Amino acid sequence: MGVEIQVNNLTKRFGSQTIWEDVSLTLPAGEISVMLGPSGTGKSVFLKCLIGLLKPNNGSIIIDGKDIVTIKERELYEVRKLFGVLFQDGALFGSQNLYDNIAFPLREHTKKKESEIKRIVLEKMEMTGLAGAEKKLPGEISGGMRKRAGLARALVLDPEILLFDEPDSGLDPVRTAYLNQLIVDLNAEIKATFLIVTHDIATARSVPDNIGLLYRRHLAMFGPREMLLSSNEPVVRQFLNGQRQGPIGMAEEKDAGELAAEAATGEELGKLPPIPEQLPTSDGRLRETQRKPGSWLIEHGVVPPAGSFAGLGVEGLPEAQPGQPTGWTGDEPPTRGASSHGSGSAPARPLRSRIDGAEEPKEPAPVEADGADDRTAVLPRAPRKRAARTTDGGGVDVLEDEAPAARPAAKSTAARRRGSS
Ligand SMILES: Nc1ncnc2c1ncn2[C@@H]1O[C@H](COP(=O)(O)OP(=O)(O)OP(=O)(O)O)[C@@H](O)[C@H]1O
Ligand SMILES: [Mg+2]
Repeated sequence: MGVEIQVNNLTKRFGSQTIWEDVSLTLPAGEISVMLGPSGTGKSVFLKCLIGLLKPNNGSIIIDGKDIVTIKERELYEVRKLFGVLFQDGALFGSQNLYDNIAFPLREHTKKKESEIKRIVLEKMEMTGLAGAEKKLPGEISGGMRKRAGLARALVLDPEILLFDEPDSGLDPVRTAYLNQLIVDLNAEIKATFLIVTHDIATARSVPDNIGLLYRRHLAMFGPREMLLSSNEPVVRQFLNGQRQGPIGMAEEKDAGELAAEAATGEELGKLPPIPEQLPTSDGRLRETQRKPGSWLIEHGVVPPAGSFAGLGVEGLPEAQPGQPTGWTGDEPPTRGASSHGSGSAPARPLRSRIDGAEEPKEPAPVEADGADDRTAVLPRAPRKRAARTTDGGGVDVLEDEAPAARPAAKSTAARRRGSS
């Protein structure tokens, strides 16, 4: 039934470059969470920390009662068996057919007989809509099929936690919709804890139980979907609604001049768009961990944006009183346990102070190739030759890769942090 992941005050640096700091959140067992954030904010780094492939500088990650930041390699090996990971490109071996690709973790990590492996591989291929494509090579199939093959491969060891790094990148909207439905159905079936990194706002709005946003080296907010989708916090609001108006500019954030110019035009933030229905399973059920539409809003007395949950007949939603704003205006989120959702509503961070009081932009710090504090090399972007593949000793396959070439750091200002978690 999935495993909870508790992240406390996590900080990750590469040399002098802080990727993010003081990140605290709880991924509730069996729920689907999404992590958003502008490119380069360290979402992939976050996933790699969760799985123990990168070691954070501070903080703890509690999985199954163990802090994977400090446990010994042997124990980490065991914890890693809980994970399945869908890499951005599926990370398939180009020279092997789909059957062998999907069978790989079973052959590598278990002593199962080929007959048992065949049963499992065919079951997962069926689950991911790949039945009949066993003999295809990755180069012969579409991007969407490759993603599904990567997913089937992530499933063969029956993971309790599934991490997806941009499962929808490069897919057309129709294939993304199919993949999203597959993710929801899969969650209902295997009940594992899911974390999806995506850039797709439609996915973030309709699929998960919880949403998080990394921005300017901090976790801007993490909590139940309805909290984020009704939030009036400018950064969250701009990002989740894909609006131009707001603190985020083309180069991640707008400078004071741009913001002043925007204010001078009198252009205001667009209206909060209606909250859409959360995707049910393909046979129309709510998943076990899925809350009823409107339940978070009702519980917290938050007036949803007009038109929310259209056609669903949700009763008991708070109605706007004269002068009362639409949406959630809380600076601080409800405390843990205050919502029916319990640990899902991890502390969110008010950003206003950080935006208002941002320090002067600093020169981008040179990116140092990490290594000293990494448990293994960075994860691959594309699989290389079979010979290059090693296993990390747990349920996760790791490809050896050169130290990443130094890339210029994203233009970013150091943000002043208010309070601590
Ligand atoms: N092993 C490493 N050594 C040094 N720097 C690294 C390493 N891995 C990532 N980085 C740096 O960390 C920062 C965050 O990278 P990351 O890949 O996590 O971003 P992201 O949010 O996933 O971006 P995108 O949305 O483009 O995938 C980048 O500046 C990157 O150069
Ligand atoms: Mg990434």
